[in-house]
Amino acid sequence: MSGLRLEGKIAIITGGASGIGAEAVRLFTDHGAKVIIVDLQEELGQNVAASIEDERATFYRCDITNETEVENAVKFTVEKHGKLDVLFSNAGVMEQHGSFLDLDLELFDRTMAVNVRGAAAFIKHAARAMVEKGTRGSIVCTTSVSSEISGVGPHAYTASKHALLGLMRSACGGLGKYGIRVNGVAPYGVATALNSVDEETAKMVEDYCAATAILKSVVLKARHVAEAALFLASDDSAYVSGQNLAVDGGYSVVKPM
Ligand SMILES: NC(=O)c1ccc[n+]([C@@H]2O[C@H](COP(=O)([O-])OP(=O)(O)OC[C@H]3O[C@@H](n4cnc5c(N)ncnc54)[C@H](O)[C@@H]3O)[C@@H](O)[C@H]2O)c1
Repeated sequence: MSGLRLEGKIAIITGGASGIGAEAVRLFTDHGAKVIIVDLQEELGQNVAASIEDERATFYRCDITNETEVENAVKFTVEKHGKLDVLFSNAGVMEQHGSFLDLDLELFDRTMAVNVRGAAAFIKHAARAMVEKGTRGSIVCTTSVSSEISGVGPHAYTASKHALLGLMRSACGGLGKYGIRVNGVAPYGVATALNSVDEETAKMVEDYCAATAILKSVVLKARHVAEAALFLASDDSAYVSGQNLAVDGGYSVVKPM
C-alpha cells in the first residue's frame, strides 16, 4: 500500500498563499494530491504554486467574500481536474485586540464576512461539485481554540470562530447523506502573518504561546496543523465527521491552577 495519503485526490486550499494554508499545500501535494491554491494574495500564491514540483499546485485568485468568485474557483478546479475530493477551508482574518466597549462593528462585519460567510460559500459550492460527481468528499475548516473558548482571541474573531464551529457542525448534518464529511482543526497560536509582521514579532508570539501552553517542549508550527488537516482530509478518517480536532496541546480543556 502506498504511504501517500491523498494519492489521486483533488483538493482546494483556501488561504493557501501563506501560513498554515501554504504548509498544507506542501504537505497535501507531498501526499499525492493536486491542489488549487485559493487566495487574495496573487504574488505569494503564485510563488507557493511555483515551489511545488510537477505542476501539482495551481494558484487561483479569489476573494472568498464574493460568492461568484467562489463558485468560479470551484468550477475552475472541476474543469481542470475533473472532480473535487477535498476542501480545506482555511482562509481567515483576525482583527487587533481591543476593549469590548470600543467594538468596531464594521470590522466585526468584515471578520464575519471572511471567517464565516466566506467559509459557508465555499462549503456550499464545493459540496455541490462533490454531489454532482458522486464524490464522497472531505471538508476541513480551520477553526481555532477561539471556536471553543473566549479570552484568547479578539472579540469579533472569537465570535466568528464560534460561528464557524456551528457552520461546520451544521454542514456535517446536511451533507452526511451525500457521504461528505465535515470537520474542523482548532489550533492554538502559531506564528504566521495573521499575528506577526516580522521575525521579531513571530518570536514574541512563539514565546508567549510557549509561556501559556499546557504542553511544554513543543513549539506549535503550521506543519503540526497541516498534519491534522491531512488526517481529516484523507481516508484515514473515513468515519470521522462533525469533529473539531484541537491542535492545542490541551489548552482548551485545562484551566491551570
Ligand atoms: N496563526 C494562528 O495562531 C491561528 C490559530 C488558530 C486558527 N488560525 C486560523 O488559521 C487560518 C489560517 O491562518 P494563518 O495563521 O495561516 O494566517 P495567514 O494570514 O498566514 O493566512 C491566511 C490567508 O488567508 C487569506 N485570506 C484572507 N482573507 C481572504 C479572502 N477574503 N479571500 C481569500 N483569501 C483570504 C490571506 O491572504 C492569507 O494568505 C485562519 O482561518 C486563522 O483564523 C490561526
